[in-house]
Amino acid sequence: MEQKIKAGRLIIFEGGEKVGKSTQIERLAGYLLGRGHKIVTTKEPGGGMHDIRKQIMRLDPNHPDLAYEELKLFVQDRTIHWNNLILPELNAGKVVLCDRWKYSTKAYQGHARGMDMKVIDASGNHAVDGKEADLVFLLDLPADAYLKRISKDNETEVTRFEGEKIAFHEKVRRGFLVQANEDPERWVVLDATQNKEKLALAIQKAVKEKLGL
Ligand SMILES: Nc1ncnc2c1ncn2[C@@H]1O[C@H](COP(=O)(O)OP(=O)(O)OP(=O)(O)O)[C@@H](O)[C@H]1O
Ligand SMILES: [Mg+2]
Repeated sequence: MEQKIKAGRLIIFEGGEKVGKSTQIERLAGYLLGRGHKIVTTKEPGGGMHDIRKQIMRLDPNHPDLAYEELKLFVQDRTIHWNNLILPELNAGKVVLCDRWKYSTKAYQGHARGMDMKVIDASGNHAVDGKEADLVFLLDLPADAYLKRISKDNETEVTRFEGEKIAFHEKVRRGFLVQANEDPERWVVLDATQNKEKLALAIQKAVKEKLGL
């Protein structure tokens, strides 16, 4: 069967936790609406299967292949999300703004958790029929800025738990940066320590220059 022409644009926001993804998606949505574009905002996980978090929680923590069991759920969610929401909206000419996508799976399950990248690539590409986003924004936040954002009191000593969180955050961060370096035309890396307004303006500029929106 002939593949439908993709009329819309798919813009993804990636990065670790608390980097400002939700904030900037809201800003860009407002900006694009103001310019008369038809937009849809969505997110993963949960864009396809609304109870995916519950299903992940229900997995046996002692399962010998827990990471793979999780990956299967993420991919199932992504497949449903793609077929039932993203693709139809793109075909209807909408600009789809999505909070995390297959690049998160590579950063978290691949780079940070060490799963076989070939398995992740194959399952992720299968879920979305080999498609890539038109534009990916990486909100890049270094560990010290991340810690400040997550801790209530910036002066407190770094606890072991927070230390572990930072080590994990850095692995995820590297996982995103590797992907951005491999595909610099598609990815725009932004210093997420900048203020919200500066970031919003940089994002608007990139959307205009790269996608003509
Ligand atoms: N540029 C910024 N500078 C300082 N603080 C920011 C900036 N952007 C967002 N924040 C603050 O950081 C916190 C996290 O922002 P936000 O919820 O947008 O991030 P997120 O990446 O969507 O997080 P999550 O991973 O929890 O979904 C919020 O308290 C927000 O107000
Ligand atoms: Mg968010």
